[in-house]
Amino acid sequence: MSMPTPIVFLNGDFTPITDAKISVLDRGFLFADGVYEVIPAYAGKLFRLSQHIERLNSSLNAIRMSPPLSAQQWESTLNKLIQQQPDPASDQSVYLQVTRGANEQRDHQLPEQYQATVFAMCQPIASHNLNAIALGIKAITLDDIRWDWCHIKSVALLGNILLKQQAADQQCTEAILLRDGYATEGSASNLFIVKNKQLITPPKSHYLLPGITRDLVLELATKEGITCIEREISEQQLFDADEVWLTSSTKEIMPVIELNRQVVADGQPGQLWQQVSTAYSQFKTQLRESDNDQ
Ligand SMILES: Cc1ncc(COP(=O)(O)O)c(C=O)c1O
Repeated sequence: MSMPTPIVFLNGDFTPITDAKISVLDRGFLFADGVYEVIPAYAGKLFRLSQHIERLNSSLNAIRMSPPLSAQQWESTLNKLIQQQPDPASDQSVYLQVTRGANEQRDHQLPEQYQATVFAMCQPIASHNLNAIALGIKAITLDDIRWDWCHIKSVALLGNILLKQQAADQQCTEAILLRDGYATEGSASNLFIVKNKQLITPPKSHYLLPGITRDLVLELATKEGITCIEREISEQQLFDADEVWLTSSTKEIMPVIELNRQVVADGQPGQLWQQVSTAYSQFKTQLRESDNDQ
């Protein structure tokens, strides 16, 4: 039996993905002039929607664009999109992208007027991937080759892609990025370490994306009574850590059990990881059973 063609949202319309088309002059295509978000939906309930929309709007503001949709419009659009998927109650991630649209000519300078391109689609979140991650992942450290505005969730991801591929080439899941001797984040995730029962993550800055999962992990860990510290992590502190975690919306909390081919602590997901990851699962269960997005 063939799969139904997925329905996506493009510029106000819900349409089969095969019919969704944009101009070759779109500045997203020509210049990666756009931003995006990835928002999980558990049993159809959008995860931390208001925080995702807030981050989207701050990315748009940083690239001198205004929000094409209000928070309420996003909410109803994304919920309608989820409802049109083959299994709306399954776990999915919603990808949305806003670009500065198409001009008549390719020109670096920003157009005085533009019509944003607004796109959204759903993809399944596979629980077997999360189960594999929970056993622990391998990571390597690499110098951060990206630009200095990593707080913007820009669609210009070539740096991130090439870094992740270098990790994959070495049978690793993620690359932990170093800048001036400090570990900032992963190529597609935020970084935490545990040392002497304290949870440490680098403070928000232009060198890392302000992760929605990062904020939730800090919130949940604090509720669990764990001391949380936002402070820079030197390369040495990374290697001396009792636990290393990487977080993202779709991968949740990844315990790193091998770093640059050396085992981290005893080579098993750590005790604090177990505790916070249980709290994270409970948060998801509450969201699934709730009436509202959280
Ligand atoms: C570079 C980078 N840092 C951090 C994150 C984690 O952000 P979030 O928790 O909002 O998914 C991502 C997510 O894709 C990312 O690409």
